[in-house]
Amino acid sequence: MGKYLQINQKINSFNKIIEVSGDKSISIRCVLMASQAIGLSKIYNLLESEDVMNALKAIKKLGISYKKKNNYFEIEGLGLSGYLTKKKVEINAGNSGTLARLILGLLVNVNNYVSITGDNSLRKRDFSRVTKPLLNFGVNIKSKNNKLPVRIIGSEYLRPINYFEKLGSAQCKSAVMLASLKSPGITNIKAKKSRDHTELLFKSLNIPINIKKKKNYDFIKITGQSNFSGFNYHVPGDISSSAFFIVLTLLSKKSKLIIKNVNINESRIGVIKILNKMNANIIFRNKKKYKGETISDIVVKSKKNFIGIKCPKSLNSSAIDEFLVIFLVAAKAKGISTFNNLSELNKKESPRLNIAIKFLKMIGIKVVRKKDNIKIYGNPNLELNDFYKVSNFRKDHRVLMMSCIAALTLGGKWKLADKDSVNTSFPNFFNIIKKLGAKII
Ligand code: S3P
Repeated sequence: MGKYLQINQKINSFNKIIEVSGDKSISIRCVLMASQAIGLSKIYNLLESEDVMNALKAIKKLGISYKKKNNYFEIEGLGLSGYLTKKKVEINAGNSGTLARLILGLLVNVNNYVSITGDNSLRKRDFSRVTKPLLNFGVNIKSKNNKLPVRIIGSEYLRPINYFEKLGSAQCKSAVMLASLKSPGITNIKAKKSRDHTELLFKSLNIPINIKKKKNYDFIKITGQSNFSGFNYHVPGDISSSAFFIVLTLLSKKSKLIIKNVNINESRIGVIKILNKMNANIIFRNKKKYKGETISDIVVKSKKNFIGIKCPKSLNSSAIDEFLVIFLVAAKAKGISTFNNLSELNKKESPRLNIAIKFLKMIGIKVVRKKDNIKIYGNPNLELNDFYKVSNFRKDHRVLMMSCIAALTLGGKWKLADKDSVNTSFPNFFNIIKKLGAKII
């Protein structure tokens, strides 16, 4: 592969069984929680992507040691007050919003100066969404224009907080949950529905947590300063990574794919619900429970006759990382698909709503946008023959992978920049599409 990735050929029919890498959200949470446990944790199937490696480097800078063993990572936690910082420390979270935001929560009791920075994309993202609630614990946080670098000096005298999370952001909710571990007393959180891996991990570690689930909000109470022991965890497959192959299968001819051992936690399967509403018929097989998460095989076959839908807003949070590929199916559907209230999509590694609209227009699809709502006018006969170049997408890993799926299913000749961006979340992406028969240059 040269500077640009080239795809000049659609994928042929395939019938395969694959496994995707470990879930990114859970991998980062496991690393951070293991760094706070007392004693040794063993994490199996940890996603070995840049975001997760940056989490390991971050805890190392804070005095926590880890080792890569044959098929697991070993992390030696030193408890809730175990981060050691003798001097000023700088943590580089790279591209990872999850790492930067969650670790801020863990730094609230570090009575030293820690600075968090990140790559060009992460330095453009807003941090007030986490620094505002964290300030209420009684810490000192400084930043310019609410962007990275953010400097935090924690406190020995923390107080618990009451927090209303309105965005449906698991990163904000989790940052506060992690900070609540350090503070005496009970922290109360009312949170709009979002992924709940932090809650499930707390429960499986016997951290005192009480959750009441209502229709639109969860009410969470956490009692702080309760130490927990090292743990073993086997990270399940990532549904966000699986989504690329699900859509590849749906849009290719006469193909079938089974993806083994994927986490199908209710708070993550918006993509499956939306695609099935569009007529996809994706099914779960061999469901089992593991530490509160639900793991399953996913079975998907290629399809014609997708239909345009009005996507319920209630699914936005649980499909937030998958909208780019969902839009590709909408582009091939009969009729108009409507997606509303997508402002959060523009706050990701790149402004994904803007980029998706540009992309869809480039491939000849009519899109009408009003504020943060879009209508995609599908074309079931969409077939591409021209030359397409995709660049200037802030090295957003998901934009690159979505573009590959478009190139492999819609035809045309494609040149894609920044192929290394897949390493952020899914270094194995190219190996798997090659295994499915993709020809990439
Ligand atoms: C994540 C939460 C989501 C998601 C991100 C990972 C997490 O972000 O987009 O990729 O692991 O908590 P928000 O919580 O900001 O919506």
